[in-house]
Amino acid sequence: MQTVIEYPQTAQGILEHLKERLGDVVPEFELKAKSEIAEEINRLKREKNAVILGHNYMEPALFHSVPDYTGDSLYLSRVSAKADAKIVIFCGVRFMAETAKILNPSRKVLLPSAKGGCSLAASINADDVRALKRAYPGVPVVTYVNCYADVKAESDYCCTSGNAVEVVKALQKQGHKRIAFLPDEYLASNTAKETGMAIVVRERAGAPGTLKPAADPAAENLMIGWKGRCEVHEQFTVDDIKNARAQFPDVRVLSHPECSPDVVSHSDYAGSTTQMLKYVEQTQKGRLLLLTECSMGDNIAAKNPNREILRICSIRCPHMGEITLEETLESLKHERYVIEVPEAIRAQAHKALDRMIAIG
Ligand code: 13P
Ligand code: SF4
Repeated sequence: MQTVIEYPQTAQGILEHLKERLGDVVPEFELKAKSEIAEEINRLKREKNAVILGHNYMEPALFHSVPDYTGDSLYLSRVSAKADAKIVIFCGVRFMAETAKILNPSRKVLLPSAKGGCSLAASINADDVRALKRAYPGVPVVTYVNCYADVKAESDYCCTSGNAVEVVKALQKQGHKRIAFLPDEYLASNTAKETGMAIVVRERAGAPGTLKPAADPAAENLMIGWKGRCEVHEQFTVDDIKNARAQFPDVRVLSHPECSPDVVSHSDYAGSTTQMLKYVEQTQKGRLLLLTECSMGDNIAAKNPNREILRICSIRCPHMGEITLEETLESLKHERYVIEVPEAIRAQAHKALDRMIAIG
């Protein structure tokens, strides 16, 4: 279900709301400045008929004051596909805003940063996917949504961290024994493990479109992965978990499936950002350790003040960090940075996204 989030309308009302959520972690003078910006954003949003989508990794003051919808990539894709506002502002990174444009091309989609990159999206391009298709003819290609439109356009299905296992299982049901799953090496390995597949990880030899030689394991069910990694999640280690468990033996560890398979197998639960949030909301007691981007930890802690949430909060996604309340206001004022996707690429990428949405 897609529910619009309601906020107080005045700066004073927003300040009270932010103080209640974030008063323990952000000083009042900062919240006051942020609430004045948020009031202006919400006023312009109504005036210009805009909708704001906020990824779970947004800075806490933004996350709790302006998005009409918040969530993980899967949920926000669904919302953006149905958005009927004139302008869609995506408070997330570029590949997410591109996904919104692909799904809903008649809307003006804005990203509040000129860049908004992602180490996974930067790890692969369309030439690389074509090289893999030549090396593995007839093998269906699943791309994690954390890639750009030209890569999605070369694929058969998209997936997110919230439905990767379902998408792979759907292909297995159709009789596929080999599946290419790009570009996150760790998400691919974690998904292969859950779906009973062996994995080979391929990489570029030099220029895009060239592959380093690699011997495929002699396994009946084989996933073909790509050597891309999330620069945030690859930093969490099994020692982080062991140290937390040594200090707090009852702690339950939640990790994002972009973490290494070792980290995921030492965790009690792995899931998308929204799945982690739901886990926290549904388990009523006990300490929790979140292994994901640190603003997300702050946002979950703010929504669940009665829970003891430990987090290794030194790892901020620098790309998500480019999106601030200040930049969102500028984006809305000047209607920048407009996301465009060439129609031929958009139409192809749309098919891969539609197949994902149809699966779940
Ligand atoms: P989610 O789809 O789980 O929100 O993840 C997006 C992302 O970029 C994680 O690093
Ligand atoms: Fe990309 Fe990782 Fe940042 Fe997510 S957290 S946007 S996967 S770099």
